[in-house]
Amino acid sequence: MEFEYEREMEKPTISLLILIFSLLFSLASANIPLGTTLTPLGYPTNLTSPNATFTLGFIPIPSTNSPSFAAAISYSGIPVWKAGGDSGTVDSNGALQFLQSGNLNLVSGNGSVIWESGTANRGITTATLDDSGNLSLKNGSDTIWSTFNNPTDTILPTQNFTTGIVLQSGVYSFNLLSMGNLTLTWNNSIVYWNQPLNSSFSNLTSPTLNIQSIGTVTVNDPSFSGPAIMAYSSDYGEGTDVLRFLKLDSDGNFRIYSSAMGSGVDIERWAAVEDQCRVFGYCGNMGICGYNDTAPVCGCPSQNFAFVDPNDSRKGCQRKVALDSCLNGSTMLQLDYTQFLTYSSELTSQVFRAAISSCPAICLEEQSCMGSTSLDDGTGQCYIKVSNFISGYESPALPSTSFVKVCSPGIPNSPLSQGASGTTAWKVPPWVVLIVVAVTLVGFGLLEGGLWWWCCRNGQKFGRLSTQYALLEYASGAPVQFLFKELRRATKEFKEKLGAGGFGTVYKGILANKTVVAVKQLEGIEQGEKQFRMEVATISSTHHLNLVRLIGFCSEGRRRLLVYEFMKNGSLDSFLFASEDPSGKLLDWEARFNIALGTARGITYLHEECRDCIVHCDIKPENILLDDNYNAKVSDFGLAKLLNSKEHKYRTLTSVRGTRGYLAPEWLANLPITSKSDVYSYGMVLLEIVSGRRNFEVSEDTGRKKFSLWAYEEFDRGNMESIVDKRLTEHGMDLEQVIRAIQVSFWCIQEQPSQRPVMGKVVQMLEGTIATEKPPAPKATAQGSMNDTSMNVSSTVSAVSTFATSAPVASSYSSFQAMGVSSSLSGSYIERTTSSQV
Ligand SMILES: *[C@@H]1O[C@H](CO)[C@@H](O)[C@H](O)[C@H]1NC(C)=O
Ligand SMILES: *[C@@H]1O[C@H](CO)[C@@H](O)[C@H](O)[C@H]1NC(C)=O
Ligand SMILES: *[C@@H]1O[C@H](CO)[C@@H](O)[C@H](O)[C@H]1NC(C)=O
Ligand SMILES: *[C@@H]1O[C@H](CO)[C@@H](O)[C@H](O)[C@H]1NC(C)=O
Ligand SMILES: *[C@@H]1O[C@H](CO)[C@@H](O)[C@H](O)[C@H]1NC(C)=O
Ligand SMILES: *[C@@H]1O[C@H](CO)[C@@H](O)[C@H](O)[C@H]1NC(C)=O
Ligand SMILES: *[C@@H]1O[C@H](CO)[C@@H](O)[C@H](O)[C@H]1NC(C)=O
Ligand SMILES: *[C@@H]1O[C@H](CO)[C@@H](O)[C@H](O)[C@H]1NC(C)=O
Repeated sequence: MEFEYEREMEKPTISLLILIFSLLFSLASANIPLGTTLTPLGYPTNLTSPNATFTLGFIPIPSTNSPSFAAAISYSGIPVWKAGGDSGTVDSNGALQFLQSGNLNLVSGNGSVIWESGTANRGITTATLDDSGNLSLKNGSDTIWSTFNNPTDTILPTQNFTTGIVLQSGVYSFNLLSMGNLTLTWNNSIVYWNQPLNSSFSNLTSPTLNIQSIGTVTVNDPSFSGPAIMAYSSDYGEGTDVLRFLKLDSDGNFRIYSSAMGSGVDIERWAAVEDQCRVFGYCGNMGICGYNDTAPVCGCPSQNFAFVDPNDSRKGCQRKVALDSCLNGSTMLQLDYTQFLTYSSELTSQVFRAAISSCPAICLEEQSCMGSTSLDDGTGQCYIKVSNFISGYESPALPSTSFVKVCSPGIPNSPLSQGASGTTAWKVPPWVVLIVVAVTLVGFGLLEGGLWWWCCRNGQKFGRLSTQYALLEYASGAPVQFLFKELRRATKEFKEKLGAGGFGTVYKGILANKTVVAVKQLEGIEQGEKQFRMEVATISSTHHLNLVRLIGFCSEGRRRLLVYEFMKNGSLDSFLFASEDPSGKLLDWEARFNIALGTARGITYLHEECRDCIVHCDIKPENILLDDNYNAKVSDFGLAKLLNSKEHKYRTLTSVRGTRGYLAPEWLANLPITSKSDVYSYGMVLLEIVSGRRNFEVSEDTGRKKFSLWAYEEFDRGNMESIVDKRLTEHGMDLEQVIRAIQVSFWCIQEQPSQRPVMGKVVQMLEGTIATEKPPAPKATAQGSMNDTSMNVSSTVSAVSTFATSAPVASSYSSFQAMGVSSSLSGSYIERTTSSQV
């Protein structure tokens, strides 16, 4: 960038001196004097805020034609404000001028003003860029204009976003309403997201939206006693030197991002519209949004349409033949599992009750109607789309059928070319089809004959063929898809029940190759086939020595089953708690320590090492299974929320998941759940491994205190032996290991998540590869609040099982709801010792 001082000076030397002085001055203090001009290609590069956190200067904008630039305030290269917003781009001859009049202008190469601050002749004397990223134009110390009050698409910490200010990104806008609602609007007309304030906040006078640097989005008002929290970023409270900001993206979603200082990388931590396809108009007019395995994809309703811009499917679709030029009249083409998105402003005039067959008929009659949607959810509702903008959503999980008006004949998308249907209409001569079909048939015939011969030679029954394929797949590590009848046979008609829970039952089964498995039959799962498969793929791709392995699944019609490896020794709880199972086998210290370490390694893998990071949410002895050699295998992972997904939303949908006694205090305080919540639960389990009794047990010998609290006091006094399982002391044990384990457990159950170590560190502390300091007291308040949630938890446990304590592959399907399977499922488990809880 270049500064040009347009001042007239009598003496060139003075002019030069002033230039150098001003340059140094402006770089050091970010006070920008009147007359400063920045250009895209020049020197020096940027104006920076005093501690160099933010810079003002031109940044290149990706563009297909000539080089384009925008004048922006950036944080490590991430723009947080742009002069002129979306339309503020100039070529390399453009400039940002801070005129003597006090106006800040963005001018293009040909001299036309693209954007101005409108502050001419208002006594502006200086401009400053401060360390919070605010560029303000001032008369002395009065701020006349600032980027915080004139944002483009981003809100920074300390920025006050009030009613009347708008964030804009393309056709989308974000507003704070005077009643405190946060809204996202398409083309200033359709509100597709509205988050109202909790009703306990009312009578607002002048609400302000902020993002706090720790990662909460709040609305405050002079009439409130404290701010209302509207959203949490998933990395809430973690890390230092992280900038968290809110941004309205060009895809119409509103997100929290966090960016580590100097990294230049921003990571999504929360999104307002969880399901991107529900953003109105995401795929443009007549565009249909759907998902491939990873991302939303835009397609056209049928082959009667083509993309407006073949290079950008988000620009929407257009008819190949206009409706008023149809040669053979028009017809309604059926689109299964498709919905034309409808929002409240349209609802009053466009919704009917109609049989599914008459819904398209109504539309066909009505000239202005372009399409209709029938909900298959039992309401019989029929939506008629008369607006000339239609935004569609297609998903196997949508209980909805839509009809689009097209010129006869309607040509549906072929399933294979979906997503690009508008452009790829393959024309294949019929004779080619005939030959291909014939060759394929002969090929299949030969193949089947060969297989049949092979099977019979090996003495196998023909009916087992698909299992044979399945086992080949199993060997390759991919999840095996089983037929329902195979699993029925494997479990002998679901005869040997291992346990039952609110979401289904677990049965022991033996596959055709004699592998013993545990088969979970999920009940009431409404999830679409595609999504279910995606989740199964994630879980089964997570392999670790200390994680129970998912072998396969079955998804047939409404049936959903999961097949896990069978763990002969059952779950850890049956070996730990003498009071619950006096006949239980005793594990010596060495075995216990190995189980503790293995469990920690398994969880570390979930948190830190695998592709999609997973927070388990329900770590407890019942979910730690033991194989033949007493190696720990964590079960039920991956059904819970994925770390980077919109986890906080789920908790409000459902109630507290996880198990009382192992729940971190943040569950109860309604704070965000992070991997640190698993660390807490692990700490509780670790203490139980050492002590051999439930932490929430209250007894006379612990002075009627919760064991975990009493244990810390004893530890503090140096009475280690009173904590350790009495049954153990007779056997030889490594005292150093015991002390390490006790210390680590107290570190893990710290009330403040930030005080708890990450799981990787827990492993190192246990191994003794890093030193463990003496832990501070885990605060008592966490335990005190257990009582308060009992109602919350127990309200969801009507169908709770004994399954958690007895099944080899234990318990909660709760996690499925975390992935949006069904918000009506409730997911809490309580041990059979519920009554003994505080
Ligand atoms: C700038 O501020 C001074 C002092 O507050 C005031 O007297 C002056 O009128 C202001 N200038 C303009 C143009 O508003
Ligand atoms: C710069 O200042 C801001 C605001 O005072 C502060 O939050 C930030 O940590 C500082 N950054 C550096 C690198 O000192
Ligand atoms: C935001 O509002 C608060 C409270 O009204 C005020 O103290 C603060 O200075 C404001 N911040 C900015 C950048 O204007
Ligand atoms: C947005 O609204 C304006 C009028 O408010 C209308 O002219 C325009 O066509 C709309 N844009 C789209 C894409 O429908
Ligand atoms: C705010 O949200 C509530 C609840 O959805 C709604 O009833 C109300 O109309 C909204 N307020 C405005 C001004 O849109
Ligand atoms: C509103 O918030 C209060 C406290 O923040 C909470 O107790 C109450 O349940 C909330 N009400 C609703 C309707 O969410
Ligand atoms: C809000 O204002 C209404 C009318 O002035 C009053 O009846 C109501 O009690 C007020 N609510 C609160 C929470 O202050
Ligand atoms: C899904 O679509 C996105 C965006 O079009 C693309 O980048 C990605 O490769 C696609 N993934 C698969 C598995 O097709």
